[in-house]
Amino acid sequence: MKITAVLLAAGQGTRMKSDLPKVLHPVCGAPMIAHALAAAKAASTELPVVVIGHGAGALREFLDETARCVIQEPQKGTGHAVQQAEQALRGKTELVLVTYADMPLLRPETLSTLVETQKKNPGPISILTVIASDPRGFGRVIRDPDGGVQAIVEETAATEEQLLINELNVGAYCFSAEWLWAALRKIKVSKKGEYYLTDTVGLAVQAGLPVRALVCDDPLETIGINTRTDLADAEAAMRQRINQVHMLAGVTLVDPATTYIDATVKIGRDTRIWPNTYLRGETAIGKNCIIGPNTIAENTTVGDDCEILAAVLEGAVVEDRVCIGPFARLRKGAHLCSGVHMGNFGEVKDSTLGPGTKMGHFSYLGNATIGENVNIGAGTITCNYDGVHKNPTEIGDGAFIGSDTMLVAPVKIGARAKTGAGAVVTKDVEADTLVVGVPARPIKKIDPKKDKE
Ligand code: UD1
Ligand code: CA
Repeated sequence: MKITAVLLAAGQGTRMKSDLPKVLHPVCGAPMIAHALAAAKAASTELPVVVIGHGAGALREFLDETARCVIQEPQKGTGHAVQQAEQALRGKTELVLVTYADMPLLRPETLSTLVETQKKNPGPISILTVIASDPRGFGRVIRDPDGGVQAIVEETAATEEQLLINELNVGAYCFSAEWLWAALRKIKVSKKGEYYLTDTVGLAVQAGLPVRALVCDDPLETIGINTRTDLADAEAAMRQRINQVHMLAGVTLVDPATTYIDATVKIGRDTRIWPNTYLRGETAIGKNCIIGPNTIAENTTVGDDCEILAAVLEGAVVEDRVCIGPFARLRKGAHLCSGVHMGNFGEVKDSTLGPGTKMGHFSYLGNATIGENVNIGAGTITCNYDGVHKNPTEIGDGAFIGSDTMLVAPVKIGARAKTGAGAVVTKDVEADTLVVGVPARPIKKIDPKKDKE
């Protein structure tokens, strides 16, 4: 059976008081619409349709190929918004699943159950409801004495008595498509000048057709974001949900309340994460690692058995058994091979450090290729930028770079070569050679067997 999701995202989101369209505000690292779209996609079979209006340009750009966009202009209510999808969908789908893009916590499973509820319904609508003590401006679900759904009444139109009803309209609906298109034309304009999608429920009931309600048992799923306060609530709820998934999968979070993990992140079992750690974007952490406290990793891959303390990693790759920090920074293109040790106050950018290489203290490596088991002395700097170009540095296996060496790139240091403390290396150094001074000059050949200085 063909099921198409229609996501409503044309509203202005006035209450956010923002220049950014409401549904592009991030929740746990992704715009709220991305979460809503993922859930809607999982519960449907066709490419979803997103109804856009305010901030259409930015939304279209973000959605790209992930959905089909239709424009609602002007915005005359949720019923009018769904009508904009008719032309794209008429005759092409049997069920229409409608949700609002400002509800990022709705689970795919809940939407799938809503679709299943509608498949079994001889009538044209199934709606999702929630029992909640705090009505937060939601529409109230009116039931008859036998429990059958009669109507949804918006808060602004509700009587005193109706306002006391604690069953709320969440804002997710599954419709039989052909009935929906016809019903939308019959909706009357409200006092606020809008066409309410929720009025379709009354229309079905008047025609003697049953409306089914699925009651969502987790009120957190139904958080709708209208204000920045709702945004913070949604962020906290989603963070808790994400953290729980990791903990149940075998990751230790010492203090989940101060551990901030994006929905996109993967973590291996027996990894222990200390407080004030942020794992963002396409980050993957291996097994048995110790991360934090006070660590930020973004779009970074970390292997197994690593220790990362108080460090910032952006766009880096770290292999197994690597030890980093405290106070280290890995920037884009940093690649630390297995067994690397990177100590305090180091920075690595667009550089590879070979297996077993050590860089203990106060160093900067940029645009460098470093071999295996190299020792980078304290304060070593690759002078990679001449004001115009970024120039490369190469260091061979087993080299020993003395403290405070300046490597003026482009420059190559041969395997097992050594530089004296304070050397300013302006020319390539051959393998097995000791250089010293400013500018550095060779003073002897090293016999790797005898010379152990
Ligand atoms: C809506 C429901 C209400 C429900 C609540 C749950 C209606 C009439 N009311 O109220 O019963 O309890 O959601 O959160 O549907 N939108 C458009 N075009 C428009 C108007 C809105 O695309 O012309 C989009 C908005 O961008 C938003 C969604 O529809 O994503 C909901 O609109 P909003 O104004 O937030 O509706 P509520 O007043 O919250
Ligand atoms: Ca809303």
